[in-house]
Amino acid sequence: MEVAPLSCPGSPDAAPCGLLCLPPVRRKALLLFAMLFLCLYLFYAGSCASLHPGVLLQGPEDSKGRAGLLARLLLLRPPLEVPQDRTPSPEPPDEADYPEPREPGPLSSFYNGAGSRKLPQALIIGVKKGGTRALLEFLRVHPDIRAVGAEPHFFDRNYDKGFSWYRDLMPRTLDGQITMEKTPSYFVTKEAPARISAMAKDAKLIVVVRDPVTRAISDYTQTLSKRPDIPTFENLTFKNRTTGLIDTSWSAIQIGIYAKHLENWLQYFPMNQILFVSGERLITDPSGELGRVQDFLGLKRIITDKHFYFNKTKGFPCLKKAEGSSKPHCLGKTKGRTHPNIDQEVVQRLREFYRPFNLKFYQMTGHNFGWD
Ligand SMILES: *[C@@H]1O[C@H](CO)[C@@H](O)[C@H](O)[C@H]1NC(C)=O
Ligand SMILES: *[C@@H]1O[C@H](CO)[C@@H](O)[C@H](O)[C@H]1NC(C)=O
Ligand SMILES: *[C@@H]1O[C@H](CO)[C@@H](O)[C@H](O)[C@H]1NC(C)=O
Repeated sequence: MEVAPLSCPGSPDAAPCGLLCLPPVRRKALLLFAMLFLCLYLFYAGSCASLHPGVLLQGPEDSKGRAGLLARLLLLRPPLEVPQDRTPSPEPPDEADYPEPREPGPLSSFYNGAGSRKLPQALIIGVKKGGTRALLEFLRVHPDIRAVGAEPHFFDRNYDKGFSWYRDLMPRTLDGQITMEKTPSYFVTKEAPARISAMAKDAKLIVVVRDPVTRAISDYTQTLSKRPDIPTFENLTFKNRTTGLIDTSWSAIQIGIYAKHLENWLQYFPMNQILFVSGERLITDPSGELGRVQDFLGLKRIITDKHFYFNKTKGFPCLKKAEGSSKPHCLGKTKGRTHPNIDQEVVQRLREFYRPFNLKFYQMTGHNFGWD
């Protein structure tokens, strides 16, 4: 840095030269020193507002003086402290006050280094093709929810990798934030309830359920799109088409016997720790279902109808802005997939098959999902 020549002894305008009369080297040193203090002042005044009040109070009284303060600011300032101020605003978002997408930037990469990885306190455990992805994407709008993007499959396929492997998959969270993951196969995994209970007896479980018949068809359609050589839906559904005996061992059918799977979970979790989200209502009334989920998780209702719009062409609700992107995120992304034409007789037979299980499920949950 160049210091412009200033008036010095001997020059015509030398009279009140004061500090500026120092030799250039010392002048530079002094300038640097002044800048250091200015920076320190700005840093302190600017950033300390977001520090924990305790730190703020201790700072100026520190007997070790500025050096101690500097050490505090540079070393002892725990990154964790900063976003503690990031409490949700006391009022629900105003109109047009949508959450900003959390795009990676210098600030967010700083935040990402903050907090710690925790085992999930809440899990979306099912069901496949129920709308679990949409629910998770909608929930990620909430500032107090941090969720793994991919499906960890820890409690079914990766349990032998241990809890530290599992924890390392989790995003960092700050105090008060909820860590979540979703793996839809947990709901039908025999060992999952005991294993999740061993991790956290108080874990909150969310199950997105949908009419088991449409779920089965959607499940089959997805498999068919990956493996076009599989037998027809009818062939897989029946053990014997003539007698109408249904093959309950076929996963597409088996997953929809919700009452049976739920019994397994109730051996380990009380009903009030399990929330059932209607996959149908998630489409017709996303903000209503999201309201129930936020209540269940003990969170403020931040996600409201203002976050959604309905795409009439698609026939599905979309998030105005999805978390981490500026593009809308819609339910029913794969709606374009052509469903195979399924014999209405087969559909009727399946409805009959599921009816008693559905009624049992309504009784157990105290909620009529209206599939019959
Ligand atoms: C479906 O089953 C029928 C008899 O039940 C059989 O003739 C036919 O080959 C099967 N089709 C496929 C694709 O498996
Ligand atoms: C289906 O059931 C009918 C009537 O019981 C029986 O005659 C037939 O052999 C069965 N078919 C198969 C493939 O099991
Ligand atoms: C609605 O969905 C259609 C069909 O997927 C798409 O082409 C269109 O861009 C969407 N519109 C909005 C506003 O999301």
